[in-house]
Amino acid sequence: MIYFDNSATTQPNESVLESFIAANMRFYANPASLHRMGREAEVLLKRSKEQMLTLIDNEDGEVVITSGGTEANNLAIIGFAQAYKTRGNHIITTEIEHPSILNACRQLEGEGFEIDYLPVDDSGMISLKELESKLKKETILVSIMHVNNEIGTIQPISQCAELIKRNGRAIFHSDCVQSFGKLPVSMESLGVDAITISAHKINGLKGSGALFLKKPIKPNAINFGGGQENGLRSGTVSVPNAVSMAKAMRISAVNNESKHFREWRNKIINVCDEIELVEVLSPQNAAPHIISLAFKSIKGEVAINYFQEQGIIISTSSACFSKNKSASHVIEAIGLDKNFKNGVIRVSFGNTNTEAEIETFIKVLRQFVELIERGI
Ligand SMILES: Cc1ncc(COP(=O)(O)O)c(C=O)c1O
Repeated sequence: MIYFDNSATTQPNESVLESFIAANMRFYANPASLHRMGREAEVLLKRSKEQMLTLIDNEDGEVVITSGGTEANNLAIIGFAQAYKTRGNHIITTEIEHPSILNACRQLEGEGFEIDYLPVDDSGMISLKELESKLKKETILVSIMHVNNEIGTIQPISQCAELIKRNGRAIFHSDCVQSFGKLPVSMESLGVDAITISAHKINGLKGSGALFLKKPIKPNAINFGGGQENGLRSGTVSVPNAVSMAKAMRISAVNNESKHFREWRNKIINVCDEIELVEVLSPQNAAPHIISLAFKSIKGEVAINYFQEQGIIISTSSACFSKNKSASHVIEAIGLDKNFKNGVIRVSFGNTNTEAEIETFIKVLRQFVELIERGI
């Protein structure tokens, strides 16, 4: 099978898996325990965190190990809202965030917070002017994703940061789940206060992610117990999860596969540009690993099944929406023509893909279009 659903999840890297097993077998003691084995686990945890923080240019910052991107995003949205609610009750995000941001915001709306959802243009881009117009003295938090998981749009995070800092004291969080390992992610250059990363999107393991914080910014905890992770996330910390996530981050930060991704992407887009039945939804300057396409008057599932029969795994707009019959919130937000709305597919590359697989994809795409044109 050719796997092109890497934005949903990736195959774990073998050395990441090995580091997870080794840490489990040797450093299984509780890092909060006072005995020697506990202290050794704690040292390893600390070292892994330092490595992660260095990789994102936040050496003096803090990292909270979570169960994935969803929990880290929930902690950022709910936790910052609770921590800073004495300053104000206004939050800004975008219409095209991952559901782990949007549904956390909806929860807060029910508790009396005011949320502005920035609209996007047909390429999925927010407007800096619109962001500036929404910032006010009650704004305590802005959360804008770096790369959109459905169509790959890259938001101008450092320019947003400048505006936010110029207009008040709001915390700026960015969901970097789809950007880390594909684009440079430096908290310093992006100018953000907090970012989310998930290990399983970068050939790490499912069930691990992290919220990275600039000091001294702190969300309130959203779970309760023994006060681990500086009181930010109770529960015994999984040292193997931290060790393997640090390894996955190290490997993906140095990998240069992204260079091929852009070439591959351009190749596919050039073919699509010649086909009237296909619209490319991802903008030209989108993240290199995601291409979103839409077929005219053809259901996305039909395309997915056809590609699967030919040995190629692709998805509809995203894994979260793949079982929904209606178009996703991102597809609605970009205002896609109704003839194309139900025909969206996403092709996302990962480190295991090869040039030959791209050629096969193009061949199958041409075959599929020919069948549609012949009305089969
Ligand atoms: C942009 C984005 N944010 C957050 C998440 C959630 O991450 P996780 O699957 O680790 O909970 C995803 C996963 O699809 C994502 O693409």
